[in-house]
Amino acid sequence: MSQIAELGHQLSLNENPYGPLPSVREALSGALMSANRYPEFIPRRLPELIAQRLGFPADQIVVGAGATGVIMHILQEFVTPGDGVVMGSPTFDGYPLLTATVGGRAVEVPLTVDGHQDLTAMADAVDPRTRVVVLCSPHNPTGTCLGRRDLQDFLDRISPSVTVVLDEAYIDFVAPAQRVPSAELLARYRNLVVMRTFSKAYGLAALRVGYAVGSVPVIARIRRWQLPFGMTALAEAGVRACYDAEQELALRTAAITLECGRLTTGLRDLGFAVPTSSANFVYLTGCPPSEIDRLRGTFTRDGIQVKHCSTGIRITVGDAAATDAVVASVS
Ligand SMILES: Cc1ncc(COP(=O)(O)O)c(C=O)c1O
Repeated sequence: MSQIAELGHQLSLNENPYGPLPSVREALSGALMSANRYPEFIPRRLPELIAQRLGFPADQIVVGAGATGVIMHILQEFVTPGDGVVMGSPTFDGYPLLTATVGGRAVEVPLTVDGHQDLTAMADAVDPRTRVVVLCSPHNPTGTCLGRRDLQDFLDRISPSVTVVLDEAYIDFVAPAQRVPSAELLARYRNLVVMRTFSKAYGLAALRVGYAVGSVPVIARIRRWQLPFGMTALAEAGVRACYDAEQELALRTAAITLECGRLTTGLRDLGFAVPTSSANFVYLTGCPPSEIDRLRGTFTRDGIQVKHCSTGIRITVGDAAATDAVVASVS
């Protein structure tokens, strides 16, 4: 077995390859010393902290056990059995899975051939039983972003009675100049909910911290589902310490973005179709099923864990050694 295979590379969950910074580790160890104490009954300090950072009032923020926890609460609040949830396909697995959990119908709209969400087809898929539409930017698994004009045209087409979730789990990998001004959109569209997480660029996946920003009445409805004592004290300490170390974390994000470019180029040079990704993963798409099967065997042989989706293979960006291992594996 090669050395690569012995060490292995976990590239299937879009995790950050870096562990917590020393200052974040220290804050977490400090919080652990009070593990005998309950956290807040319903979190107030954490939404306040996030609100201050983003420049929103705290009653426009709801936190949860990762973005996944908040998505669950959104679906619990807005979707009753038989209601439709429109989403791109493929997308983050959580959306079809949690839609099924609440008895909703996942209305899956195929991506365009170049890996974008088909906004026209998604708007056309909305019917009187639709309660929620999910957009991701960057999109999982392709890493493609939505443009401001397209997004606004889409929102103009959607009834205010339908909740539109704009999932920005990977937004911190996008250059600030390329980001859509979600604050402006939130002010204009009261049915819009923007999702974020500390699991990706901030590297706190194990602590389970995510949040949504939206209009006060929509956030109040989502908050009804919060579990008492549901957010850990470690989550609050971790977020606070990350906010204090934003510059160092930004350097790590920049390193991942650089590596994403290197991985994309390496794979394209070998002839693979790879959409330009603005996130911490790339997508091998357009492969015939026989090629997908061959790659599945190759990655398994070399101890590289990747995510197999219906139309391709998603590979998380790791460190430089991981990029080299992926390119060597498929060469
Ligand atoms: C688009 C998208 N949204 C949400 C999540 C969930 O993240 P969290 O760890 O915050 O639950 C993921 C995780 O991979 C994701 O890709």
